[in-house]
Amino acid sequence: MKNAKTKKTITDNTVDPDILAYTVGDDPVLDLNLAVWDCMGTAAHVTMLSEMKLKTPVVTKAEAKKVRTALGEIVKEIEKGEFTILVDDQDVHMAVERLLTERLGDLGKKIHTGRSRNDQVAVDVRLHMKDAILRTEEETLSLAQSLVKFGAKYGRTPLVGRTHLQPAMPSSVEMWATGHAEMIADQIENLEAAYRLADLNPLGSAAGYGVPLPLDRSRTTKLLGFSRTIHNVFGASMARGECEAALLSALAQLMAVLSRLAEDMIIFSMPEFAYFKLPREYCTGSSIMPQKFNPDVLELVRSKAAQVLGLQTASLSLLHAMPGGYNRDLQDCKWLYMKGLDITRTTLRILAKVVAGTTVDKDICRAAFTPGVFATDVALRKVAEGTPWRDAYHDVRDHLERLGDEDPDTAVAAKTHEGTTSGINIALYKSRLAEALKSLKTRLNTLEKCKRALFKA
Ligand code: ARG
Repeated sequence: MKNAKTKKTITDNTVDPDILAYTVGDDPVLDLNLAVWDCMGTAAHVTMLSEMKLKTPVVTKAEAKKVRTALGEIVKEIEKGEFTILVDDQDVHMAVERLLTERLGDLGKKIHTGRSRNDQVAVDVRLHMKDAILRTEEETLSLAQSLVKFGAKYGRTPLVGRTHLQPAMPSSVEMWATGHAEMIADQIENLEAAYRLADLNPLGSAAGYGVPLPLDRSRTTKLLGFSRTIHNVFGASMARGECEAALLSALAQLMAVLSRLAEDMIIFSMPEFAYFKLPREYCTGSSIMPQKFNPDVLELVRSKAAQVLGLQTASLSLLHAMPGGYNRDLQDCKWLYMKGLDITRTTLRILAKVVAGTTVDKDICRAAFTPGVFATDVALRKVAEGTPWRDAYHDVRDHLERLGDEDPDTAVAAKTHEGTTSGINIALYKSRLAEALKSLKTRLNTLEKCKRALFKA
């Protein structure tokens, strides 16, 4: 770190090494996630600079081409893991500028004309997020697909439906699994809201107040594949952190939904229930109790849901009292949303695996039906014979001892309206999920094409 003073860096850093280390924080590692997107932002910015109608161009079209080729090389190095960000660089933005200057000389020194790192990081985060949100949505839909598959496999196997955790009414394994699947898949809506926010271009804000140069902001919007430009440059700079918080809110909600799935699976696989069985290799033992096969993996889903909620709270706490304009606090939004994405995506993948490996003991599921589970159905049979509902209800409630064993399969078959035990449309789920996955693939491809086009000289 001593060399912070001896080596000339992009901003000619004379900052005290301890202060530098504290302010740089984990950026040299975290920013590696932004590196490709940073090159993309620079390629678009330089292209736009070369198209500005000026007497003396900032960069010529031929120079812009050289920069794009050099950026293409840097992207290859990033993809091979050969790119590093030094503490002296502070962040990815200055690391890329350092490389371009080393490789292109004076031309490298021109690329930062008319922009700031605030501009750059805002663009990088949004591009990174767009890609990551689509991938998270894919993983969300894959988990929903595993649950639909699980539901279809065990179909109308009767399952005691519960309210207050007490036996309530006849349900089925299919209803349980596809109910969770649908709730999980619908979380895409929140992720899509975060995506729409991330899909706005802040570039051209510079330090937050614009620059006296004829920047063509709509050009970079087009080159980078954003849906539109954030019109007000001050607003564009203030929007940093807001899409991170929106994404964390969507992730926190998704994790809460996943945690409820985990909780059901923990309960249903307890020896006292034993409806479900987790594969032995997915359970962890105890160092003292030889008989133990614990669902630690599912317990950790609950704890991770709490952590993502904490990250969301941290992001809003960080933002709510911050004055307008860039403040370095914003840097800390970066690890919050990256950590949130990481936890959520790992959880989605692990749950898909656990669901696929879980088996159902159909006999135990059927044997769990007590006479009370049929009470509402009995009352409704009285209604079918002409008794007013409230009288039928009291008849049954006053003589619960008269309830007897009934066939759970018949009860499951008796409910046929949309979405109930015998009215679940597996084909509908399959086609909805497949269609949603297809649309995600299309958008991921568009983003990839946009990236490749920018590095083509
Ligand atoms: N690493 C910084 C961040 O994430 C980049 C922007 C620095 N801007 C500044 N004005 N110091 O916020």
